[in-house]
Amino acid sequence: MQQIVDLRSDTVTKPTAAMRQAMAEAEVGDDVFGEDPTVRRLEERVAEILGKEAAVFVPSGVMGNQIALALHTLPGDEVVLAERSHIFHYESGAPGQISGVQLRPVGDETGILRASDVEDVVRGAFDWEPRTSLVCLENTINKAGGLVFPLEAMREVAEVARARGLALHLDGARLWNASAATGTPEAAFAAPFDTVSVCLSKGLGAPVGSLLAGSSSHIHEARRLRKRLGGGMRQVGILAAAGLLALDHRHNLGSDHARAKTFADALAGYSAFRVVPPETNIVLFDTLEEDAEAVLMKLENESVRVVPFGPRTLRATFHRDVTDNDVDYTLEALQRLFG
Ligand SMILES: Cc1ncc(COP(=O)(O)O)c(C=O)c1O
Repeated sequence: MQQIVDLRSDTVTKPTAAMRQAMAEAEVGDDVFGEDPTVRRLEERVAEILGKEAAVFVPSGVMGNQIALALHTLPGDEVVLAERSHIFHYESGAPGQISGVQLRPVGDETGILRASDVEDVVRGAFDWEPRTSLVCLENTINKAGGLVFPLEAMREVAEVARARGLALHLDGARLWNASAATGTPEAAFAAPFDTVSVCLSKGLGAPVGSLLAGSSSHIHEARRLRKRLGGGMRQVGILAAAGLLALDHRHNLGSDHARAKTFADALAGYSAFRVVPPETNIVLFDTLEEDAEAVLMKLENESVRVVPFGPRTLRATFHRDVTDNDVDYTLEALQRLFG
């Protein structure tokens, strides 16, 4: 019998047998005392991959982003980001509550900010204005279907931000995918930014874990902020051990991208759908003949799971637990339902 093909998110992966073994055997210590050797190894490795001085292990991507916001702003400041960004849509209003900042979403539906989008909204010259202190970019852009934010475009935004004295943070939850899709090393994408957050539990298969990387002084302060948010963890080398193995998997992400493309190409052959050609592992598609919910239910009845992304839009995400057989099965299900 066909198992469920779970395309809801790249966070649904289960740790591999090798990960579970590494977790069981991990050398650990109390990480709040800085004594967990496996966490240290993971932090050093991620800092090296991103070309930064240091990194800190945090429980989630949201915590990594929110620590960055707290690092780079003062209460009452304004943060410029794309209207499509995860920080704006999906972090439960944390910037207002945790850092006391307001968000200034700009740009179009691609989520790719232009330098002029930022230039046009920087403010703080007058007492009655909020002071713009930070620009956050995202790569890949989840809500734009895993779109890669091109390196050159990032550099242009960074140049304007620097000229205006603003700090820069990159939400790189799926930076691995941007790198796999373009061949550009993660460190090149990370270079224009003061801090970068990355996730191990999206597509790479780790059960938990994200890191925030930056200068030694920023990461020193980030540890205090992590503790304040309740993110100081003890013998967490058990999770870091899975994270170290997950990192190796980033070189295989091209297979997820290829499967996403196969799926998108098949969808494009049906009049019932309009599909955004995927650059990485996320496929966004519009349902032209019925509501997204109705299509979702039909797919669900065929054991294929996707998520709604709007009244007429669905999202399918490819990850390491989706096999070629699963893709073949999914294409057959599409044919049965919509052919
Ligand atoms: C772009 C982006 N940033 C941050 C996050 C937050 O990660 P977490 O769910 O680990 O908090 C996500 C989660 O999907 C994401 O897609």
